[in-house]
Amino acid sequence: MKSLERALVGSALWLLLGNAFALDGNTTYTEGGSQPGAMPCVACHGADGLGLAAAGFPRLAGLPAQYVRRQLSDFASGARSNPVMQPLAKALTDAEIAALSEAVAAMPAPLTARMPRSEMPANPIQKLVLQGAWERQIPACVSCHGPSGVGVGDAFPPLAGQPAAYLAAQLGAWQNGTRRDDPNDLMGHIAKSLTPDEVQGVAQYFASLPLEAKP
Ligand code: HEC
Ligand code: HEC
Repeated sequence: MKSLERALVGSALWLLLGNAFALDGNTTYTEGGSQPGAMPCVACHGADGLGLAAAGFPRLAGLPAQYVRRQLSDFASGARSNPVMQPLAKALTDAEIAALSEAVAAMPAPLTARMPRSEMPANPIQKLVLQGAWERQIPACVSCHGPSGVGVGDAFPPLAGQPAAYLAAQLGAWQNGTRRDDPNDLMGHIAKSLTPDEVQGVAQYFASLPLEAKP
């Protein structure tokens, strides 16, 4: 009996320590996951999590943990398909996904100067962003993504500070159906309603918003 108790306590302790190790999201971020194929995130998303604009690698720093967790499982399931992230996400364990999501959410996000929604649009792209295009049933981007696209809550990711190439690629992915993970197809409808010029225009707009000086 005594030895069984000891064995139980021992394995509980082992599980605890094992979990504590697996749950260090920052280590997994810089060193990769426990299974083959789970490459270190740092290689593409950068040490600060700000991504690599020239390559179209998105920033992860400050993205809502719940959003990141779902994107990683959507890559794994194929609801969001991408040749780089799909095999990588499949190689992550659930515990690693949870820990990574918390780790990147805690990385400081770039501070974007917020443009009030009442600002007069200076061109058709700004009009689309700030007021939408109701004749085509496109709501203003900022009505869901927040002022200057800084993101709102767990569901609406930031657009500000993402590379233009990445933003345009996502709109293209919704247009051609390779990203179809959005529960109510809000973005599917919106992306399919945009012209190629509008896709490039809004991507440039959110990628080039002015950053606030750090306090
Ligand atoms: C070899 C480069 C590479 C590596 C390594 C990499 N990523 Fe990515 N990641 C990408 C690319 C490219 C995309 C954009 C995919 C797309 O267009 O859908 C992306 C997209 C993402 C997204 C979606 C972001 C959003 O705004 O929706 C998440 C989350 C993500 N990666 C997490 C990770 C994590 C966590 C790791 C480490 C386990 C990792 N990535 C490693 C290249 C990489
Ligand atoms: C009705 C709400 C709503 C409106 C309006 C809206 N979006 Fe979105 N958008 C979403 C949601 C929800 C997501 C996250 C989808 C998911 O969970 O995969 C998203 C995601 C995105 C993404 C992907 C971000 C990433 O990190 O991968 C881009 C790009 C985007 N939206 C662009 C736009 C643009 C441009 C407009 C305006 C023309 C716009 N959105 C208007 C709800 C909205």
